[in-house]
Amino acid sequence: MENFNFYSPTEFVFGKDRENEVGALVKKHGGSKVLVHFGGGSAVKSGLIDRVKASLDAAGVPHVELGGVHPNPLDTKVYEGIEICRKEGVDFILAVGGGSSIDSAKAIAMGVVYEGDFWDFYSGKAAPAKALPVGTVLTIAAAGSEGSGDSVITKEEGMLKRGAGGDCLRPRFSVLNPALTCTLPAYQTACGATDIMAHVFERYFTNTTEVEITDRLCEAVLCTMVKETPRVIADPNNYEARANIMWAGMVAHNNIVGVGRGQDWNSHAIEHELSGMYDCAHGAGLAVIMPAWMEYVMNHNVMRFCQMATRVFGCAMNFENPAETAKAGIKAFRSFLKSIGMPINFAELGAKEEDIPEMVRKLNPGNGWGFQPLNADDVTKVYQIAAKATV
Ligand code: NZQ
Ligand code: ZN
Repeated sequence: MENFNFYSPTEFVFGKDRENEVGALVKKHGGSKVLVHFGGGSAVKSGLIDRVKASLDAAGVPHVELGGVHPNPLDTKVYEGIEICRKEGVDFILAVGGGSSIDSAKAIAMGVVYEGDFWDFYSGKAAPAKALPVGTVLTIAAAGSEGSGDSVITKEEGMLKRGAGGDCLRPRFSVLNPALTCTLPAYQTACGATDIMAHVFERYFTNTTEVEITDRLCEAVLCTMVKETPRVIADPNNYEARANIMWAGMVAHNNIVGVGRGQDWNSHAIEHELSGMYDCAHGAGLAVIMPAWMEYVMNHNVMRFCQMATRVFGCAMNFENPAETAKAGIKAFRSFLKSIGMPINFAELGAKEEDIPEMVRKLNPGNGWGFQPLNADDVTKVYQIAAKATV
């Protein structure tokens, strides 16, 4: 196991009706004027925004609001938020929604206290060092931004999707009420489930040996997702299954399952070009990319793929020919994704093979990191496998 620091200061407030405590939570975490930041309408329609505002009013915390965050959040909304916060003297950002609203809130939080252009953090010109405090009320189990120090924003000009990360971005508190996720369409639920599993796989496929504890934690999250996702697809109001998925989504990405081990993240980078270019859901893009990436890199460590196949998907181990077991595991993963309604190739996602060179150019691979470092030629091949995949 490698040396590590693990800093996870977020207060998680989990369970039914807990959003009604948000006013007191903001006060407890030092907020005196709040920007309530949310998406395209689901949180307004469900009455959640009204409940959040009522809770802030009851706690005597003044607030302004900015809605309309686009899924795959845009830089333009971030600039708008920074301006409002400066003008109104906001000192706390409260995101109500999914990864998109939370990531946009984190970008605003960094931008308000930064003299330069906030995009510097996403283009690699500056590292996030300070930010206004952020709190969240989560409405979809997916990105894990409620516990992570990451934020992903798309620059509208050129549709460049890029990430920034730093511990100052970890939320001060996150309210997780699984009942709020019951209004999610089945497709969004499945996209979220795919993202959660992908966050674990990015950590599971490692070159670090002797990491039994995090291997087993990863497998626990993956097995939970395989069991619970079909239950919520069949019965969207199944609170207990929603609760397990919601916590799995946080555990998958606050890095408790990834400490002390090398991680990959090539599938995420490769996917971000798809959701950047076609504005598809991140989870749907991952459903197309991740099994293709697995097929491409499988021979780098066949036994690790056998471990996934046998422990997560219950495949029988073929000791004579381990590669067959590894392939069976990847096939089981892709079949699972298909069974929950995810696209598994370019045509189903609405992506075009002729755009592959453009995606590779934008991604500019060759970074030399990951489970198996990939160059432009490798990434092209992953896209090509993904384009034509079948179950
Ligand atoms: O905008 P509204 O109207 O709220 O609708 C949203 C949106 O259309 C809807 N929705 C959310 N909660 C709902 C609901 N609809 C009905 N009922 C509810 N309870 O679902 C759609 C997707 O929402 P979004 O916030 O975009 O989803 P998600 O949480 O998957 O976030 C995706 C973004 O997070 C980034 C992705 O790249 C993408 O931009 N990621 C962020 C990460 C991080 N910060 O750590 C890591 C991830 O790997 C990921 O890259
Ligand atoms: Zn993700």
